[in-house]
Order: sequence, then C-alpha cells, then structure tokens
Amino acid sequence: MLPAVAPLRIGAVEIWPPIVLAPMSGVTNRTLRALYKPFGFGLTVTEFVSSNALQYGAKRTMEMIDQHGVEKPVSTQLWGNDPAIMAYAAQVVRECGADIVDINFGCPAPKVTKTEGGSACLRDIERCEAIMRAVVAAVDCPVTVKMRLGWTEDALVYLDVAKRAEAVGIRALTLHARTAKQFYKGSADWAHIGALKRAVGIPIIGNGDLTDPYDALAKMSASGVDAIMLGRAILGNPWLVGQIWALMEGREAAATPPAAERLNFALHHYGVMVEEWGEARAVPQMRKHLGYYLKGFRGASELRERVMRTETAAETVALVDAVIERLRLETETEPVGTAA
Ligand SMILES: Cc1cc2nc3c(=O)[nH]c(=O)nc-3n(C[C@H](O)[C@H](O)[C@H](O)COP(=O)(O)O)c2cc1C
Repeated sequence: MLPAVAPLRIGAVEIWPPIVLAPMSGVTNRTLRALYKPFGFGLTVTEFVSSNALQYGAKRTMEMIDQHGVEKPVSTQLWGNDPAIMAYAAQVVRECGADIVDINFGCPAPKVTKTEGGSACLRDIERCEAIMRAVVAAVDCPVTVKMRLGWTEDALVYLDVAKRAEAVGIRALTLHARTAKQFYKGSADWAHIGALKRAVGIPIIGNGDLTDPYDALAKMSASGVDAIMLGRAILGNPWLVGQIWALMEGREAAATPPAAERLNFALHHYGVMVEEWGEARAVPQMRKHLGYYLKGFRGASELRERVMRTETAAETVALVDAVIERLRLETETEPVGTAA
C-alpha cells in the first residue's frame, strides 16, 4: 500500500504533484522545461544563473531567466558568493517572473567552485548564512536552497546550514545527498535526507539517483520528505515522471511508450527547439538531447553516432524518421504472439 502524498507548499506556492525537475545547466533550458512539465512536474527550476553575469545584464543570461509564461510556478536558481550581488540578482529574476528564488550551494564544477560559488560556499557556513539572509530580505517571494552534504565526507555541514536556513526564513531545502568532492561517484545517501527531514521544520526535497517509480515512492516514504527532485533519469525519458505521478495519485503507472513513439516525441522536441532558438543554435544543442532519446532499440548506438555528425536539422530529422519507419515495419511484420 503506497502512502498518501500531499502537495508541496513553499510559502504561498502550492505544488502538485510534489515532483521537481532538477536544474541542469546546459540541459533544462526553457524549451525543455515547458515540454517536460506536462508529464507531471509540479515545479521546474531553471539552469543555474550566475549572479555576477546578471549584474551586467549579459544577453545570454537574460535569455536564461525569461520565463515566457508557460511554467507556473517556476523557480529561478542563482549562484554566486557575494551576498549583495546575490540579493540584487534575486530582485532581477523576481521581476522577470520567478515565483521562487533558489540558491545554489551544490554545484561541484571547478569553474564555479574556483570563485567560491556553488558547493564551495559550504566551506564557509557564515557566508552561506549571509547569502541566505540577504536574498530572503531582497525579494517578496519564497527563497529556497539546493545543497550537497558538504564539501568533503569529513565536513558534512548540511544540518548546520539547514538550521541556519530555517532561522533566516528559507522556505524549503533540496538535498542532493552526495558531497561536492564525490561529484557523481558512489550513490546518493538517502539516510542523510531522512536525517535532514527530522532536523528542521521546513519542507525538504530529496534528490539523487531516482530512476524507478516504485523506488522513488519508497525513498520518499522512508525518508519522510515532502517532495522529490528528478534529474538525469528523465533526460530522454519524461514518461518516468508521469509514472511516479500516477502512483502518487493511486493510479496505475503506464508503461514507457515503445521506441517509435519516443522517437516521435524526440522529433517534436527537435522541431520546437529549431522554432524557438533558430537552426544554428538548436542543431548542436539537440545532438546532446537526441543522445538521451536514442536508446533502448536495435541500432540505437549506431544512430546516435550518425546523429552526432549531422550539420542540419533536415539531415537529422531524415535519419530519425527512417528509423521510426523501420521500427513501424518491424512491429507490423512481428509474428502474432511475439508482442507479449
Ligand atoms: C548536466 C547537469 C547539469 C546540472 N546543473 C545543475 C545546476 O545548474 N544547478 C544545480 O543545482 N544542480 C545541477 N545539477 C545537479 C542536478 O540538479 C541533480 O542534483 C543531480 O543530477 C542529482 O540528481 P539525479 O541523480 O536525479 O540526476 C546538474 C546535473 C547535471 C547532470
């Protein structure tokens, strides 16, 4: 028997289902967020945005915070290490449509940590507190934090940061249960997520290694978290979130669609990207996305390699179309009784 799941409340923002699309730099742009949200994400989060870049109004950065109206609610994530600049950036993203401002204390990438941003903030808890306090004071919407366990295994500061967060008015916390030094190695330790839930009164969003609908619900229940966040597992497979959503509502989870249907959706994603970003920007970006979709059928790896070498949208679409046609013919000629 699965537990009853309640909506996630972050300040006055009510979120159903309590499933959050993880911020993923270079991946979860506004096109992907708008396409994936209807599958069952109650909340989407932008890619992280540099507070320093926002200060200068860089064109590409302003594009990243444009919410174009389809995502409600949406959270905009900021990174940086200067409380005053983070506060200013929070005001800008709030004016550009963010319902929630999220602070990144989790990114382990050297280009971010070398400037003491992202997970490097966890090496200086006083600074974390100053950033959180400044951002909360700067905006009239809820402010949340996404963090890792700590910088290294012998400096697990998440409980300390969480208590300070709650005290300064942070409205929810997401924990990716790895240390910064781990990057993506090992596995996320959900026991820490449970410990965090027990330590503070604000909503907790658990994150890390959720790939299966039943396991996601089991981890949610065992840790007691208010919501879950999904990242890598939904890339090329947004149907996963629909399966979790169904289980949360006591419905049966639909099977993942067959390869031809998945590829048709990939082409739809491709078309929207070209329309919104223009071919010159969409083609290189979509190579990565097609890599996520082109999995789980005969000839997938060969097709992936060929798609990586394409230069135009027409060329790519023709390649994928031919595979969809081949898959359709294979299904039609399958002897009766083999489908089971
Ligand atoms: C390509 C990529 C980009 C990411 N970018 C961000 C980011 O901008 N901000 C952030 O807080 N986390 C970022 N993350 C971390 C994810 O949000 C998430 O915490 C992590 O992938 C663990 O969740 P998962 O196991 O469901 O993927 C990124 C992860 C990946 C794989």
